[in-house]
Amino acid sequence: MPTPSRRFESVPPYLFAEVARAKREAIARGVDVIDLGIGDPDIPTPKPVIEALCAAAHNPRTHRYDESANGWPAFLNAAKEWYAKTFGVPSADQGELCQVIGSKEGLAHLAWAFIDHGDVAIVPNPGYPVYKVNTLMAGGEVFEVPLREENAFLPRLVDIPTEAARRAKLFYVCYPNNPTAAVATSEFYADAIRFCRDHDILLVNDMAYATVTYDGLLHPTALQAPGSVEHVIEFHSLSKMFNMTGWRLGFAIGNPGAIQALQAMKSNIDSKQFGAIAEAGAVALSGVDNRETMALYAKRRDYLCDGLAALGWEVPKPKATLFVWARVPRDDMSSAEFCAALIEKAGIVAVPGNGAGSEGEGFVRMSLTLPGDVGGERYAEAVRRIGESGLVPSRAGV
Ligand SMILES: Cc1ncc(COP(=O)(O)O)c(C=O)c1O
Repeated sequence: MPTPSRRFESVPPYLFAEVARAKREAIARGVDVIDLGIGDPDIPTPKPVIEALCAAAHNPRTHRYDESANGWPAFLNAAKEWYAKTFGVPSADQGELCQVIGSKEGLAHLAWAFIDHGDVAIVPNPGYPVYKVNTLMAGGEVFEVPLREENAFLPRLVDIPTEAARRAKLFYVCYPNNPTAAVATSEFYADAIRFCRDHDILLVNDMAYATVTYDGLLHPTALQAPGSVEHVIEFHSLSKMFNMTGWRLGFAIGNPGAIQALQAMKSNIDSKQFGAIAEAGAVALSGVDNRETMALYAKRRDYLCDGLAALGWEVPKPKATLFVWARVPRDDMSSAEFCAALIEKAGIVAVPGNGAGSEGEGFVRMSLTLPGDVGGERYAEAVRRIGESGLVPSRAGV
């Protein structure tokens, strides 16, 4: 067999191998493992969405190629209305939209649509690896901006060197943020848009967790700022908002030229999502209230964060996302060592922070989507086991 493309050499090694091995061993020993690893909604997709899929699958119109320009019209119309209703941005100010096969696909192909050899994308560290990996595979370079606790996990724009900004074409940001669970403000978006305007950069705003928020938070968007459509493309996903990770559906919205470039790239690679899925996605966007699911995540969050605080491990309560981002509560262990010990001594899987970038070292990520948890009881059990493990020194972080 010929060797695969050298492009793959730019894909970083899998950092969770040690944790995955320890998890397999614990399961083999018969341990009842509590897996707080991946953030994948454990509640089924809402019934009206499933019913809409079934009905649409019977319609022969969905059995053929979707020959629309940017995506299934009913889906894009629902997305426009949802965006206007949720964030108060009228369709006249939204730019254009295109459907994506999950936001991962769109975020990845945007790099391929814009990055040539020698071009730069500014990416967050820690961050969702897709931005960096696809920039590198497309032959570009990344400038990594650190997301640090002292800056509320927002990138400090003044620290980005002029040379990097001059060569950059894309600036990926993600709020509500994976992995840090940080949220952004309208002021941050205004500053980022000004920065992008000054350096002719496209701001790529990944909002995969747009309405996965708690305590009544309505997260701002970049397109709310007047005139921002000149400099912004934003990605939204049905995956986390409506428990639809497996369905592979989302949309990009914003600068018409950027949408056209993305759509041009996509039209050479995919032939759009199954129309029945898009039809069901329209039902999710126009008629599903996800507040009950969010209330369950918030309950789990409270069990976990309050319980850990009672052990002496103070972890911030996230206002959004499916994650708790916590400092490793002891000085003598790296993130990976602490996660390995958590499996070993407590049967709990957490993700080492450095898996999302070097700046994540010293942190662990725990998800709020544990299958089988009905009302927080498995999170209470996780806290009990962490307490018994002795891994949290008393009064850590207090
Ligand atoms: C920050 C972030 N962006 C994008 C995605 C991709 O989601 P999807 O492709 O399911 O829309 C994820 C998934 O975990 C994510 O965490």
